[in-house]
Amino acid sequence: MTLFIDPTSADTRREDPTPEGHAPGDPARRQGFSTRQVHAGERAVAGTPRATPIYLTAGFSFDEYDAAESHFRDGEGYAYTRVANPTIDTVESRIAALEGGTEALLVSSGQAAMSVALLSLVSAGGHVVSSAHVYEGTRGLIADNLSRFGVTSDFVWDIGDPDAWRARIRPETRALVAESLSNARNEVLDIAAIAEIAHEHGIPLVVDNTMATPYLLRPLEHGADLVVHSASKFLAGQGAVIGGVIVDGGRFDAAHGALFPHLLAPQGPGGASVAERAGGRAWIAYARETVAPRFGSTLSPFNAFLIGQGIETLSLRVERQSANALVAARWLEERDEVVSVDYAGLASHPRPDLAARYLPDGHGAVFTFTLRGGQAAARGFVEALRTFTHMTHIGDVRSLVLHPATTSHVGRTPAEQAAAGVHPGTLRLSVGIEDVADLLDDLARGIAAVRVGFGS
Ligand SMILES: Cc1ncc(COP(=O)(O)O)c(C=O)c1O
Repeated sequence: MTLFIDPTSADTRREDPTPEGHAPGDPARRQGFSTRQVHAGERAVAGTPRATPIYLTAGFSFDEYDAAESHFRDGEGYAYTRVANPTIDTVESRIAALEGGTEALLVSSGQAAMSVALLSLVSAGGHVVSSAHVYEGTRGLIADNLSRFGVTSDFVWDIGDPDAWRARIRPETRALVAESLSNARNEVLDIAAIAEIAHEHGIPLVVDNTMATPYLLRPLEHGADLVVHSASKFLAGQGAVIGGVIVDGGRFDAAHGALFPHLLAPQGPGGASVAERAGGRAWIAYARETVAPRFGSTLSPFNAFLIGQGIETLSLRVERQSANALVAARWLEERDEVVSVDYAGLASHPRPDLAARYLPDGHGAVFTFTLRGGQAAARGFVEALRTFTHMTHIGDVRSLVLHPATTSHVGRTPAEQAAAGVHPGTLRLSVGIEDVADLLDDLARGIAAVRVGFGS
């Protein structure tokens, strides 16, 4: 059983609407983000648990003989957790409400979310155009894994140039892929412009919104068709779980159905196609029914619960983390030992227009900066830190630091690294919720180590 969200039932604005727009008690006033993050999708019934119950079970018993048949025929009720589970459903409904989507599908990791999304769109002979400024796992999935199944790809480096995207689209292209806010260089995607190009060709724009989070940016509102997240990051927030999610904007248009023949093919006993049954939700319906359960990318209900718990504080964490990150980025930008800071919140960002348009409420917690002294300086800086944890992860409540050139971007050529904003002296920070004075103290320790090491 899946709960479908009416996109008009949720106000996707970040702040709760103010009394200027709606008088208190006005029935037309809809719930704001922070209210939805704790209430959307809940099924509070008298005498049942107030917190989301964890249905930690492989299967569900059928209460009568015919229930088994109606489940297998019409998908009614729950039967097996690889296909559907009430804990997972509740969290999916909440994420769909926060992204302003019609439906969400939770899977076992962020990688699984991108894999399932793309496997629902492309077939052998198909083609994907992706931003080159994407997580290395996304790049590898498209360039290495999908290519083994006959899906070719092209990567766009200058993602701010709409013509660069347009020029790479071919008749067999089935998806455009990008990150709303990129890791590592904090590139801000012009979602509306790239979505328009995708739609000119009848294909979807898939946006990885992990770094921005639905609190700061909701790509579906700007024309994206599918949103994916590594839920392991900001959505969970506590750094204890791996998970991923796909959210569908519900805009599949049967007029372009011929590009996606698997959605039009008759299926099952009634012979109705996915497009006939699911209409605008056809992409995610196919992902839920045919791709995720068969490729087996199931999320544990326990992990779904932890992601749901994390989401209840998402707005508070991201607001604090964005504020901390801005202070840290400004402080680093003023140090002589620092060549550059790539943060969308700084006036020095190459596209302040896009940052202002798409991220009016904050610029996220993850950014890179480059030390003058190259890799040796980066090593000295990392080794001096005490509050920042040295590890490969982002979006945690704790502050984290990583040296991309020797870790996340080690598979790229030096030229590709440079184009991605990754130099020998570059460090990536994921700023947490700690007291900002303690974070600045720690960064000052790093700078002092660099100064000593280089006699500056
Ligand atoms: C932007 C982005 N997308 C996707 C992923 C993959 O997510 P996961 O590690 O949950 O598979 C990551 C992981 O670091 C990421 O940073």
